Amino acid sequence: MFSSLAIYALLAIQAYTVSAFPAYESLAGLSREELDAAVSSVKWVPPPPPPGPLADQSAKLVHDAAHPYEPLKPGDQRGPCPALNTLASHGYLPRNGIATPVQIVNAVQEGFNLENSFARFLVYSTFLVNGNPVTNLMSIGDKTSLTGQDPPKPATVAGLDTHNNCEGDTSMTRADAYFGDNHSFNETRFQNLVKFSKKYGAGKYNYTVAAQYRKFLIEDSIQNNPQFTLVSPRLFTAFAESVFPVNFFIDGRDTSGQLDLDVARSFFQNMTFPPNFHRRNGSVSNVGQDVVTDLMPNFRPGYNAHGVNSYVPDPTSATLTEPCVRYVNFVNRNIKSLYPNPTGVLKEALKINLQYLYEATVAAGDGCTQVFPYGK
Ligand code: HEM
Ligand SMILES: *[C@@H]1O[C@H](CO)[C@@H](O)[C@H](O)[C@H]1NC(C)=O
Ligand SMILES: *[C@@H]1O[C@H](CO)[C@@H](O)[C@H](O)[C@H]1NC(C)=O
Ligand SMILES: *[C@@H]1O[C@H](CO)[C@@H](O)[C@H](O)[C@H]1NC(C)=O
Ligand SMILES: *[C@@H]1O[C@H](CO)[C@@H](O)[C@H](O)[C@H]1NC(C)=O
Ligand SMILES: *[C@@H]1O[C@H](CO)[C@@H](O)[C@H](O)[C@H]1NC(C)=O
Repeated sequence: MFSSLAIYALLAIQAYTVSAFPAYESLAGLSREELDAAVSSVKWVPPPPPPGPLADQSAKLVHDAAHPYEPLKPGDQRGPCPALNTLASHGYLPRNGIATPVQIVNAVQEGFNLENSFARFLVYSTFLVNGNPVTNLMSIGDKTSLTGQDPPKPATVAGLDTHNNCEGDTSMTRADAYFGDNHSFNETRFQNLVKFSKKYGAGKYNYTVAAQYRKFLIEDSIQNNPQFTLVSPRLFTAFAESVFPVNFFIDGRDTSGQLDLDVARSFFQNMTFPPNFHRRNGSVSNVGQDVVTDLMPNFRPGYNAHGVNSYVPDPTSATLTEPCVRYVNFVNRNIKSLYPNPTGVLKEALKINLQYLYEATVAAGDGCTQVFPYGK
């Protein structure tokens, strides 16, 4: 507890101006009371708005001299998302894997040409449940004191590894949380991706493979994971992620729509851009996802109710065609359950981030009615 508070104070002092404590002064040796005073005298800065779209969305070299791969240093965070892992390992994100929402939007646009409203939507929905609203920092991996002092429980602020929002069952290259490690590259699962690419893609990963492999992953979890669940909001990321490798991991000078498996492994396992990698040409989001959903027209969000092979639909979950049910439930259930009664700057920070989430939802074309769990 003490050490995390000290780190928070150090971070805060680095980030913001504090009259009582010159930025260069060491905090080592301060009493608990002195540290508390340092923390409470920190001037809270409201989170800045997310950036707009890139001015130039053409393909370009992103594995350039200014962004070399560097291996992890002790304490660096990496997690379930191969794209964010890669961006951190090349310095498009802070290499320690601790980032602000604005840094993440900038990085996914610059490095992969992710469409602006979609990037904002992904970032603010994960940040609100897995990031620290007050310090404005999120871990792209596990829980760490580097995101600062936690707000009161039941808030978790536990990074992208947390099994409660985007992270969830049926990942392509990560095991279900029931089997233990829910975020590291898993060779057994990657070999299934390879097998399906050979069977349906002539050795490449394409939309046809994405659909067949997603169907397999769902059936596989129903049959083997007694605690399997696939409901909103994870439902949406599971289907979108299936097409991300086709949309973003293929070099921007190649328009074939067929992803080479060594290139796939470079991202999924090694967290590295292939040599000379160019980002895609023109920004895009989850185009191609219809190919995946078309293969499973009768699929409903749900869970194994009592052990393996006991899948039942969950009528309270939004379906893939109900983005506003997703938005309202996400805010009123998921976020509200983590932050039942926020006060002070925590409440202000939540309201601002909720506003950014809503604006992204509207920009992405979903005309949902805004909800205000903490007042207007
Ligand atoms: C915009 C911010 C982003 C956030 C916050 C984010 C977050 C996540 C999270 C939490 C997961 C884990 C889901 C799971 O359990 O499988 C994930 C998986 C994934 N992400 Fe991201 N992501 C972002 C952007 C991207 C981008 C730009 C790409 C592609 C270039 C991408 C590609 C993937 C893929 C392919 C997976 C699936 C991994 C697997 O199933 O093995 N993500 N992401
Ligand atoms: C990899 O995934 C498989 C299948 O989902 C699982 O049985 C296995 O335990 C995982 N391996 C590791 C090291 O987590
Ligand atoms: C997922 O992995 C993280 C990091 O190892 C761990 O803290 C968390 O408990 C795991 N989630 C579940 C549900 O097992
Ligand atoms: C995927 O690859 C297979 C084998 O080459 C091909 O038949 C199929 O049309 C491809 N699908 C897409 C969407 O490119
Ligand atoms: C992954 O990294 C290992 C170790 O550096 C290297 O031998 C291998 O060629 C890399 N594979 C890919 C596909 O990048
Ligand atoms: C990118 O797309 C634009 C517009 O479709 C096209 O004019 C340009 O040649 C493409 N660039 C590359 C590198 O493929």
